[in-house]
Amino acid sequence: MHIQVINGTTREGRFSERIAHWVLGFAKQYDGVEFELVDLRDHPLPFFDGTAPMWTPRQYANDEVARFGRTVDRADGYIVLAAEYNHGYSAVLKNAMDWTYAEWHRKPVSFVGWGSVGGARAIEQLRQVAVEFEMAPLRHAVHIAPDLYLPALEQPDPTDSAVFAPAEPFLKLLTDDLLWWAGALRTARTRDAA
Ligand SMILES: Cc1cc2nc3c(=O)[nH]c(=O)nc-3n(C[C@H](O)[C@H](O)[C@H](O)COP(=O)(O)O)c2cc1C
Repeated sequence: MHIQVINGTTREGRFSERIAHWVLGFAKQYDGVEFELVDLRDHPLPFFDGTAPMWTPRQYANDEVARFGRTVDRADGYIVLAAEYNHGYSAVLKNAMDWTYAEWHRKPVSFVGWGSVGGARAIEQLRQVAVEFEMAPLRHAVHIAPDLYLPALEQPDPTDSAVFAPAEPFLKLLTDDLLWWAGALRTARTRDAA
C-alpha cells in the first residue's frame, strides 16, 4: 500500500511542516505501508492555463506537470495537510489539483487541518472538491485547534512533535480508516483493470 502525505502549503515559515513531521513520524508504526511526503514546494507548477484534464487524462502540458501527475498516480490514498486561508484551503493546492484529474480517481482521501477552528472550513471545502475528482473523501479528520496549534508554534524545533500527542488517537483513527479504504479500493481498481 502506498499513501501520500500531501503538504498543501508552501509559504516561508509554514506550520504545515510541523504537521508533516508528526504525521510521517506516527506513520512509521504501520509495517508494510509506504508513506511518501509530497511537498508542493518540490512541484513548482505554473498557474493553471491548460485544457481541462478531465477531457485529456494524463496528457501533460509540460515536464513539471507530468512529474506531479505521475507522483499522484502512484498512490493508493492520500492524507492532505490542509491550512485554512480566509476560510478556504490554499490556492497552491487547488492549482496543483486542477492540473490533474484521473490520477486521483477512486482513491480515498483524509485530512489533517489546523487553525482557529482546526481547519474545518478548509477541509469541508476540500471534501466537496474531492467528490468532483471521483475520490472517496473520508469522515475521520484531525483538527489541530488553538489549544495545540499555539503551543506548537512556540516550539523552536519543528521536528519535535510531542505537543501533538493529545491528537494522536484521532490520527490513528484517520490512518486505520484510510488504510481500510485504500486497500478495498485498490482491490476494486485492480479487478477493473484485469
Ligand atoms: C492568507 C492567510 C489567511 C488566513 N486565514 C485564516 C482563516 O480563515 N482561518 C484560520 O483559522 N486561520 C487563518 N490563517 C492562519 C493560518 O491558519 C495559519 O497561518 C497557518 O499556520 C497556515 O498554515 P501554513 O503556516 O502552513 O501556511 C490565515 C493565514 C494566512 C496566511
